[in-house]
Amino acid sequence: MASQKWVRMVTAQTPTNIAVIKYWGKRDETLILPINDSISVTLDPDHLCTTTTVAVSPAFESDRMWLNGKEISLAGGRYQNCLREIRKRASDVEEDEKGIRITKKDWESLHVHIASYNNFPTAAGLASSAAGFACLVFALAKLMNVKEDEGQLSAIARQGSGSACRSLFGGFVKWIMGNDESGSDSLAVQLADEKHWDDLVILVAVVSSRQKETSSTSGMRESVETSLLLKHRAQEIVPKRILQMEEAIKNKDFPSFASLTCADSNQFHAVCLDTSPPIFYMNDTSHKIISMVEKWNCAEGTPQVAYTFDAGPNAVLIARDRNAASLLLRRLLYYFPPGASTDLNSYVLGDKSILQDAAVSNMKDVESLPPPLELKDGTPPQKSPGDVTYFICTRPGSGPVVLCDESKALLDSETGFPK
Ligand code: DP6
Repeated sequence: MASQKWVRMVTAQTPTNIAVIKYWGKRDETLILPINDSISVTLDPDHLCTTTTVAVSPAFESDRMWLNGKEISLAGGRYQNCLREIRKRASDVEEDEKGIRITKKDWESLHVHIASYNNFPTAAGLASSAAGFACLVFALAKLMNVKEDEGQLSAIARQGSGSACRSLFGGFVKWIMGNDESGSDSLAVQLADEKHWDDLVILVAVVSSRQKETSSTSGMRESVETSLLLKHRAQEIVPKRILQMEEAIKNKDFPSFASLTCADSNQFHAVCLDTSPPIFYMNDTSHKIISMVEKWNCAEGTPQVAYTFDAGPNAVLIARDRNAASLLLRRLLYYFPPGASTDLNSYVLGDKSILQDAAVSNMKDVESLPPPLELKDGTPPQKSPGDVTYFICTRPGSGPVVLCDESKALLDSETGFPK
């Protein structure tokens, strides 16, 4: 077969997700088995996603991968585990037009090329590994004609990065921790699709930070080893919260959804503080955003916005509807105007139509925003220009898809190398 020249290729796109009930702590580090269930919202892939092209050819000499144009090593255990598990499940492929005939056995010796690209900055701390591993597994499964469904694929993506298993579905997703030692029942299920609750609008604040953060993987290992609060959280708090969150999502009950989301984010960060030595993921800007939202929600008498923070200072703000999202953006721009060298167009990304709804179209409008009404108690308004790098406006989104348009492929269809 090595003398043959064909290249078979698949391109897929996979969303990222934000947990509203957090995964923090493993009971098995290799299989990536968690100590509690978690629930997430999938973000619209139009604004935050990974695109991955995978190719196979008898001409390839080894498995290789390029991330955002740069070659990276596939030697790590997590990549190897995903590749092995997918190869095990590969089946026959026949493509008459190209004269391609691959049997189940051939997949053991054929090599793959993988190219992956994030449509958001990888370094911004926006769960790029979740979308990345989900996309890798999904694309390889299509390439190798794997018959397993998304749930079973999620259990493979989980072995790349825990949170990746939740990116195999759109909408609202639960990662069931499972009981089996093999990890076969530790997988994601969809609770509701993205159309179920499409009033929600999500604003991500990418917070400026100079500090190098502790990775989730080592942070959660230290928490498991040292935090008694984490033990209590996993055993007593999360099981009840999961049921309440499922109910809130089913009934589109925003007040319950918001209070559970904020409480769970705050508890996750309390666990980080309870870890020895303590881990600080949020910074002053994160804390200012929390106070702003808490004050506003309190003044309105019912929650308008929920906040949640992962292993970094970025805020993910979930507004109850478009009106609340535009009022939120006005507040955010009031407190966190762009720094001197940034224009509004590169400061609010994603669904930019939110700017019209917020009645802000230029820097003059930003400068003349009035202080939020809830400040009327005489608190001097404090503005912090430059503390936020940019905002992304998005919404709950759909799950992985195969992209048939060849112009979207990241590998050349003749050579199988990056375009
Ligand atoms: C705080 O999935 O990045 O985002 O499984 O070690 O790869 P590994 O960790 P990762 O952890 C995510 C932690 C979190 C919460 C969450 O997404 O549930």
